[in-house]
Amino acid sequence: KPKKRFRFFRWTWRLTYISAIAGAAYISYGIWDMRNPEEQPQPDPSKKTLVVLGTGWGAVSLLKKLDCENYNVIVVSPRNYFLFTPLLPSCTVGTIEHRSIMEPIRNFLRHKKAAVKYYEAEATKIDYEKRVVYINDESPIKGDASATEVPFDMLVIGVGAENATFGIPGVREHGLFLKEVGDAQRIRNRIMDCCETATFKGQSPDEMKRLLHMVVVGGGPTGVEFAGELQDFFNSDLKKWLPEIKETFHVTLVEALPNVLPMFSKQLIEYTEKTFKEETITIRTKTMVKNVTDRYIEAESTGPDGKKILEKIPYGLLVWATGNALRPIVKDFMDQIPAQKDSRRGLAVNEYLVVKGCDNVWAVGDCAVANYAPTAQVAAQEGAWLARMFNQMARTHQIEGELAVLSEKQEKAPSKEARDAVFAEIKDLQKRLRRVKQIGPFEYTHNGSLAYIGSEKAVADISWLSGNIASGGTLTYFFWRSAYISMCFSTRNRILVCIDWVKSKIFGRDVSRV
Ligand code: FAD
Ligand code: NAI
Repeated sequence: KPKKRFRFFRWTWRLTYISAIAGAAYISYGIWDMRNPEEQPQPDPSKKTLVVLGTGWGAVSLLKKLDCENYNVIVVSPRNYFLFTPLLPSCTVGTIEHRSIMEPIRNFLRHKKAAVKYYEAEATKIDYEKRVVYINDESPIKGDASATEVPFDMLVIGVGAENATFGIPGVREHGLFLKEVGDAQRIRNRIMDCCETATFKGQSPDEMKRLLHMVVVGGGPTGVEFAGELQDFFNSDLKKWLPEIKETFHVTLVEALPNVLPMFSKQLIEYTEKTFKEETITIRTKTMVKNVTDRYIEAESTGPDGKKILEKIPYGLLVWATGNALRPIVKDFMDQIPAQKDSRRGLAVNEYLVVKGCDNVWAVGDCAVANYAPTAQVAAQEGAWLARMFNQMARTHQIEGELAVLSEKQEKAPSKEARDAVFAEIKDLQKRLRRVKQIGPFEYTHNGSLAYIGSEKAVADISWLSGNIASGGTLTYFFWRSAYISMCFSTRNRILVCIDWVKSKIFGRDVSRV
């Protein structure tokens, strides 16, 4: 008996050993392959030119799945990387370093089967009649050529949205947004600047209180996640290294509606509000910001008796997270298309993501209105669906070409037998063509909503079979982490994010200001 057990352990050990070696070899090959792209055939000018605007969730998931050899693909975006936005709030306090959630677009495009042209530029105007996109190099270094036009046969608009301010005075001048890497860096610096300035020699208690009042406007997931991360930063790091701010540092979340996270179920809203209370984050619901100055915001709150009170709330840091607005290029394009005149929130698209009133123009993500929430999940599914459709369109085109050749061959066939043989081939191809042409309209599958709420807790509304599971707490936080790790763009991103998590757990977050 002992001998048998010994043999069992020996085999288990061997198997573990072999799997570890195989796993390491697989990862090493993946890394080697990623760093050594193969030569790519140059774009074929006889093929249709497909221009893709943007390198965000929608555009990149399209490019990921697209068989680029079927088209001349041109990508235009001022951002030469893909940004994994769900982990951006963690970058504002240094839990994760921003480069860990960025994937250079060049790396990714170099692995496509055919070369894809990328121009680091902003599309400034789409001329639908002429079928050209005007582009401008907006980067600090400009060459002799910095503005030009790019003609297209097919166009995909995936330019996302910009930050909504609702025209409230002072927001753009004094508030900080949270959409791009630069925003996260600005917030990180501003937090440290406020803390260091608050401890400056001779600072009055009132001024110290103002500087250490961190106000977040907008109780959607961006505002909630940021407020949670900021309070974590204070609890785990700031109050240790700057004990003099311990009693004064305070986070307030301001929301115009009666509750935060309106898209989550009622019990999770209550759980979030309870957790924030325990973390000492103040939530000011039914409070609408009307004006912003460099030192305070003016907000109108509605009391329990329905009375409206206008008050001034001093702040040191103001983060503005009140949702999305149209980008100027989208607005301008909508003005050119009569069928878009009633659309307010973005480009109205049909169930095939075709921009209404246009031919061969599609829109994905936050700039499109397809009756779904403006989320990464929706944008990624739209991009992937569009890629499948383009691949099928190319296959259809190819089969139709082959059919034309076969018909000619059939006509010229010298005998009945030869004609019958060609006919059989034609029937086969026609069957394939029918199969390929069968692509249904885009249908979104909602996998659920997740949000981090601070102190190692998260909330999740997960779609399960035909129902919904709502959960909140530390276990959900581990689920949140594993879900986001699995969704990261590349293995490189996954490894870097995990290293950052371990680093900030062991050494704490960096409190230097750069
Ligand atoms: P984006 O990803 O914003 O990409 C737009 C692209 O267009 C960018 O590359 C930009 O540089 C480019 N561009 C802009 N202007 C031009 C122009 N004029 N010409 C050419 N290119 C242009 N959603 C979730 O589902 N889950 C989450 O956890 C989640 N977390 C989030 C956290 C934060 C902090 C934020 C801000 C958003 C989060 N979202 C989340 C929402 C999600 O990020 C967006 O819905 C998603 O990015 C939309 O994808 P998109 O491709 O439409 O736009
Ligand atoms: P949002 O649109 O979800 O929320 C903005 C909030 O700001 C609203 O609740 C609104 O009532 C409030 N608001 C507007 N004006 C105001 C004012 N003047 N004063 C006070 N409050 C005001 O915006 P958010 O959070 O930026 O998200 C944008 C999109 O990205 C959403 O679709 C969201 O679902 C998605 N997202 C998803 C995340 C997740 O799933 N974890 C994380 C972040 C964003």
